[in-house]
Amino acid sequence: MVTRPSVALRRVKIAGLATYVPPRLLTNADLEKMVDTSNEWILQRTGIRERHIVDPGVATSDLAKEAALKAIAQAGITPADIGFIVVGTTTPDMMFPSTACLLQHKLGAAHAWGFDLGAACSGFTFSLSVGLQMVASGLHEYALVVGADVMSSIIDYQDRATCVLFGDGAGAVVLAPAGDGEPHILGVANEIDGSGGPALQMPAGGSLRPASHETVDARLHYVKQDGATVFKFAVRKTEEISRRVLADHGLAPTDVSLFVSHQANRRIIEAAADRLGFDERTVIINLERYGNTTAATIPLALEDAIREGRLKTGDLVLLASVGAGFTVGSVLLRWSL
Ligand code: ACO
Repeated sequence: MVTRPSVALRRVKIAGLATYVPPRLLTNADLEKMVDTSNEWILQRTGIRERHIVDPGVATSDLAKEAALKAIAQAGITPADIGFIVVGTTTPDMMFPSTACLLQHKLGAAHAWGFDLGAACSGFTFSLSVGLQMVASGLHEYALVVGADVMSSIIDYQDRATCVLFGDGAGAVVLAPAGDGEPHILGVANEIDGSGGPALQMPAGGSLRPASHETVDARLHYVKQDGATVFKFAVRKTEEISRRVLADHGLAPTDVSLFVSHQANRRIIEAAADRLGFDERTVIINLERYGNTTAATIPLALEDAIREGRLKTGDLVLLASVGAGFTVGSVLLRWSL
């Protein structure tokens, strides 16, 4: 069913973007000493060389704060101007309070409300979709959208099939109303498919299996994944959701200036990009230096694209993600910074 909003929606732009990764590196050579793997295997099967990992005592809200402060400054506002905060994360500091509450306090964003959003690797695209509505509806002038994860807190560094894949990081954008003629976010397309749940999950620590000696002994507080199932789903759905959001706006892959896929595996991104007909000039891949930072990969890739001079105002940018759930997200926008 299509429902039409009863109020006129405002156009919304990205007014600030920033990222943060912790300084400590975990390289493929380090992992060779921890599990039975090799730099060659990791590079060839995933494209990852190194990841950033937090020191003990550093949490998701700490990474989020660093990215958010820079994004807020870039937008030319102060934390007090933020009306709404959404934090896409799979690794909140704790079950409650939400990371959004902890971040609000750390930022001194005294007038903001907000919440966490659980969509795994689609955490940033889904959070952007929610923040967009808050500003488009006129409920708030400025929304802070964060994707942040400390994946090292839920990774089993005895499991070679998962521990090579993930890293820690955060990205934040400030959303604001777009003026007449200014580039803005065109739209979103999102899906979930809960039948994919068993393929990628952390089995214990929630209400189904609360933490106990047994769950800890069975190593159930770590990411468990059927890599091949996730891989195939990610390639297929990244293509499908990209085509759908483009078609919704009467656009085609040939119109896209920059394709920013969630960064899980180089082979997933290249296979999806190939199906969409994108050449390497249209695709950004930076997971070599970060691994899969879950909700942070897309802002990290956007920031690298800016740094490399690959994004200019008005460019058509397509964001796409697939994550545990399964979740599938996409955002189509004209670049506004
Ligand atoms: N080092 C060396 N060998 C390894 C390693 C490792 N780190 N990990 C697995 N292997 C072995 C396996 O044990 C297997 O050995 P076997 O043939 O003797 O049984 C062999 O390598 C091949 O294993 P596969 O699982 O078939 O390897 P594949 O090429 O499929 O790559 C991978 C595995 C990288 C996990 C891939 O399936 C993948 O990327 N899947 C997507 C998962 C993902 O990115 N999840 C992140 C969250 S969801 C998302 O972001 C979309």
